[in-house]
Amino acid sequence: ELISKGNHRHYMLKEIYEQPIVVAQTLRSYLQRMDETITLPIPEFELSGIKRVTIVACGTSFYAGMVAKYWFEQFARVPVDLDVASEFRYRAPVMEAGGLALFISQSGETADTLAALRHARSEGQTIAVVCNVPTSSMAREADLLLPTHAGPEIGVASTKAFTCQLAVLAALAANLARAKGQLKPGEERQIVRHLGEAPAAINAALAYDEAIEAMAGVVATARDVLYLGRGTDYPLALEGALKLKEISYIHAEGYAAGEMKHGPIALIDDAVPVVVIAPSGPLFDKTVSNMQEVQARGGRVVLISDYDGIQAAGEGCVATITMPKVHPLIAPLVYAVPIQLLAYHVAVAKGTDVDQPRNLAKSVTVE
Ligand code: G6P
Repeated sequence: ELISKGNHRHYMLKEIYEQPIVVAQTLRSYLQRMDETITLPIPEFELSGIKRVTIVACGTSFYAGMVAKYWFEQFARVPVDLDVASEFRYRAPVMEAGGLALFISQSGETADTLAALRHARSEGQTIAVVCNVPTSSMAREADLLLPTHAGPEIGVASTKAFTCQLAVLAALAANLARAKGQLKPGEERQIVRHLGEAPAAINAALAYDEAIEAMAGVVATARDVLYLGRGTDYPLALEGALKLKEISYIHAEGYAAGEMKHGPIALIDDAVPVVVIAPSGPLFDKTVSNMQEVQARGGRVVLISDYDGIQAAGEGCVATITMPKVHPLIAPLVYAVPIQLLAYHVAVAKGTDVDQPRNLAKSVTVE
C-alpha cells in the first residue's frame, strides 16, 4: 500500500505531496518538542571534538550536502569540505585526525559514495551517514547513522528524500553548534521552533501547485533554462536545474546569482527563461540586482519569492511564484517544492516519462 500511486498520476507527484508528512515524521525523531532541544539518535555521540566536516554525496543528495555546508559553517563555525563522491578519492583529499566524514544518500547503495565512505574510514575519519534505507550498506557501515524517514521513494528523480535530508542536516548543524559552544542562550529553542514550522510551510507551498502548472508553459517551450540563487538558494538553483534536466530533458544550468555575469549572461536572450530563487531576506537585494541584469538583456524571469519579495521585484517578470514567508533556516525545505513542481509540470507538458526518465537509474551501483 505504501508504494501505490494513490490518487496521483505519477509517483513523483505523490512523493512531492508526501513532504509535509515525511518531513514531520523525520523531524519527530530529532526534535524534542517538550524541552525544545535537538537530539541525535545516539545522544552520547561526541561532536565537540570535531575539527572539520567532509561532506560527500552524489546527485540531489550532493545538493542537500551543499546546503548543509552553509549551515555547518554559519551555525557551528566548523570548516566544511564538500565533494561529489566520484571525485573525492581522486583528488587525494587531506583528512586530519578528529574529522567527521558525512555521507548523504537516499539509497545508501550509490557505488561512488560507498567507495568514498570506505576511503574516509581508511583515513581514520568518523563516519556519519544520512540515509533513507536503514538496512543499506552505508547505514551498516556508519558510526553515526542519521535516518531520514521519507518512506520508499519510487520516482527516479529524488524529491521527498531531499527535503528529509535537509531536515536531518539542519538538526545535525544545530547539534554541532551546541557541542561547539556556538549557540546563544535560547537559540536552540528558536531553531526547534523554526524547524517545527517546516511541515506546515511545505504544505502551504503545495497550495501553489495549480498556479505553477498554469505557468509551466513558459519553461516547457524553452531549449535552455537558467536557475539563479544566492546563499542556500544557490544549491537549490542547482537542484532546480537538475530536476528539470532529469525529467523534462530540457538543458538547464544552476548558477550562483552573482557569478552569472562571468559567463551565463552571454546566453541570455528572450528564448532563455531564468528562474530566480529569492526569498526576501539579507541576500534579496543582491539577487534582485542580478535578476535586473537578466531583464535588461531581454531575459524572461520567473521569480520565486514570498509576497514581500514579489511586491518589491515582481514587476517585469514573465511569471511569479509566491511562497509563504518563512525563516531563512527552513527556506530551502520550502523552496524545494516549487522547483520540484515546476520540473514535474514541464515534464508532463512535454509528455516525458516522469517516474522513469530515459538513461537514469534510481540507484547507481556502478562507479
Ligand atoms: C541517482 C538518482 C538521483 C540521486 C542520486 C544519488 O542519480 O537518479 O535521484 O540523487 O542517484 O542517489 P543516492 O541514493 O545516493 O542519494
